[in-house]
Amino acid sequence: MRVLEVVDVHKEFGGIKALNGVSFEVNKGEVFFLVGANGAGKSTLLNVITNFYSPSKGFVKINGAKTSGLPPYDKRLRGIRRSFQIPQLWLKITVLENLLVPCFAKENLDEKQAYELAIETLKEFNLENIAHKKANTLSGGQAKLVDTLRALIGDPLLVVLDEPFAGVSPALTQKLLLKIKQKSSSGTTFLIVTHVFSSVLQIADKIGVMDQGRLIAQGEPEKVLKEKNVIEAFMGVIHESTN
Ligand SMILES: Nc1ncnc2c1ncn2[C@@H]1O[C@H](COP(=O)(O)OP(=O)(O)O)[C@@H](O)[C@H]1O
Ligand SMILES: [Mg+2]
Repeated sequence: MRVLEVVDVHKEFGGIKALNGVSFEVNKGEVFFLVGANGAGKSTLLNVITNFYSPSKGFVKINGAKTSGLPPYDKRLRGIRRSFQIPQLWLKITVLENLLVPCFAKENLDEKQAYELAIETLKEFNLENIAHKKANTLSGGQAKLVDTLRALIGDPLLVVLDEPFAGVSPALTQKLLLKIKQKSSSGTTFLIVTHVFSSVLQIADKIGVMDQGRLIAQGEPEKVLKEKNVIEAFMGVIHESTN
């Protein structure tokens, strides 16, 4: 079953064509990784999918219903979660409270169950010691992880993550990968932008490669990674991520 359909999406900013006719689909429970050089249009695509931007042309369907044009807080978008390339936590409340918001808003949990789930999630990622800290006191890496966990917690339909492993230790990256794999096995669908290739190879069902606003290749990793134009695009990414 298709959870996400992106149909001929364009996005222009003034004269810049950030997205230039992007189409792809992600089925229920799949993990789809999106890779490509800086400026390729990856974050813009995530912003269109999560309704932070409206497409200039084309549309997005989630679970078969057109979602483009709805505001990001529309209740028809419940179950769609995202993280941000630059973490966007609610800064004046605690880390625990940041995780409780999606539990209260979108899951059928009572207060005690929500609290237990949030604490449990923090413990899993060795963050219980910062549970009661205000989000504006966190380090960059901590904020990144909490932003990702806020998108993952509970049983979301679709989770869209923008560079979730950037600034996160290899050990915690492994834990995140395991968590993503587990959640996808129980039916959550993932779209993940990353530069961390070991993560792509470990858990990707499919990958899409973006270059200058277009998806230049998509499909199973083994197949896509052999394509010549992809190898060239990847060389740029590998160069950037080692700088
Ligand atoms: N809000 C915006 N206003 C103007 N230009 C933007 C905006 N967001 C992105 N862009 C431009 O769109 C292009 C794609 O950017 P982005 O989606 O952030 O790429 P990526 O995430 O792949 O690095 C870039 O040229 C960027 O400068
Ligand atoms: Mg980006």
